[in-house]
Amino acid sequence: MGSEKLMRALQFEQPGEPSAALRMRHLPVPAPGPGEVRLAMKLRPINPSDVLQVKGVYGRKPPLPAIAGLEGLALVDSVGQGVSGFSIGQRVVPLGVQGTWADYVVTTADNLVAIPDGLTDEAAAQVIVNPLTAWIMAVEELKLGADDWLVQTAAGSVVGRCLIQIAKLRGYKTLNLVRRPAQVAELLAEGADAVLCTEDPNWMDKAQTIVGARGAAAGVDAVGGSMGGSLAMLLKRDGTLLVYGALSMDPLKVAGGQLIFRTLTIRGFWLTDWKIRTPKNERDAIITALLEAMSKGQISPPVEAIFPLAEFQAAIEKADEPGRRGKVLLAN
Ligand SMILES: NC(=O)c1ccc[n+]([C@@H]2O[C@H](COP(=O)([O-])OP(=O)(O)OC[C@H]3O[C@@H](n4cnc5c(N)ncnc54)[C@H](OP(=O)(O)O)[C@@H]3O)[C@@H](O)[C@H]2O)c1
Repeated sequence: MGSEKLMRALQFEQPGEPSAALRMRHLPVPAPGPGEVRLAMKLRPINPSDVLQVKGVYGRKPPLPAIAGLEGLALVDSVGQGVSGFSIGQRVVPLGVQGTWADYVVTTADNLVAIPDGLTDEAAAQVIVNPLTAWIMAVEELKLGADDWLVQTAAGSVVGRCLIQIAKLRGYKTLNLVRRPAQVAELLAEGADAVLCTEDPNWMDKAQTIVGARGAAAGVDAVGGSMGGSLAMLLKRDGTLLVYGALSMDPLKVAGGQLIFRTLTIRGFWLTDWKIRTPKNERDAIITALLEAMSKGQISPPVEAIFPLAEFQAAIEKADEPGRRGKVLLAN
């Protein structure tokens, strides 16, 4: 008992503000069972979903106490009985697992994605939550193609920036809405077709001129409230508004007339649901296409800062600051 190997883990016993709820614990290193792999975690992003889960307002509520963190880059550390196809030390990412904000986590072998050599650790650590969400929304859900306009809120987010990068591969155009004027030039420099700051009182008129009489093929919203709902006014007849985030925490507000007279569709997108409903061979093909584009540098999720795991409080504070240009990551 006394010689049991321990690991560091950021655990919460009750939901709450991460600064109060998260504690660094020393817990036994988990052993992989049959069909499972133990991962030595290397780098983990701080995503809104991680923080929302600690606060108790995310769609996935783990049994408590729970170790925080839902994604990250890891090295294969040990494999359980019956596992083949992975070598010790190989770089992998889990396709969603609870507890990446620790030194080790165990998951099933079929939940792992092998990372190609060409990808940096910083990009690999972020593949699943944000780039994959952007890719699936643009390519699989909305099937955006040449000459389509996509209009998006919170366009300076990592998902938003990935959607701008994917547009260059697929040929669609992006109209990007941001809340801070400084981000307009920043996103134009990154290849956005049009960027408007919603502080500009005339932003809606300008947006309508940009998408023209035809309207945008689709909108994606991560903000909610009347901001998210206003995207409906920019969509074409039969257009789709995909809601994938609720950053303002305000209920989405859409005028009924917008929906009725242009027969719009509004629906939600959740990566966890996509994972459950998509057969593994289809998921693998989509992730392979994404990894190829990322390895070529065509999709590159930006990084703002990297903190040691022990400095999680400062890292979470940094991740909460407005005006970041990329993700805050937790190293070891
Ligand atoms: N449904 C899914 O499966 C799924 C998957 C992945 C991500 N998401 C969601 O996607 C969203 C973006 O995630 P991310 O990791 O890419 O974000 P991120 O990089 O952390 O960036 C957040 C961005 O949102 C902006 N923002 C925050 N609150 C806002 C508000 N009230 N109004 C307008 N803009 C606001 C920030 O602007 P400033 O720079 O001005 O602060 C920042 O640019 C989150 O809501 C996340 O939960 C959902």
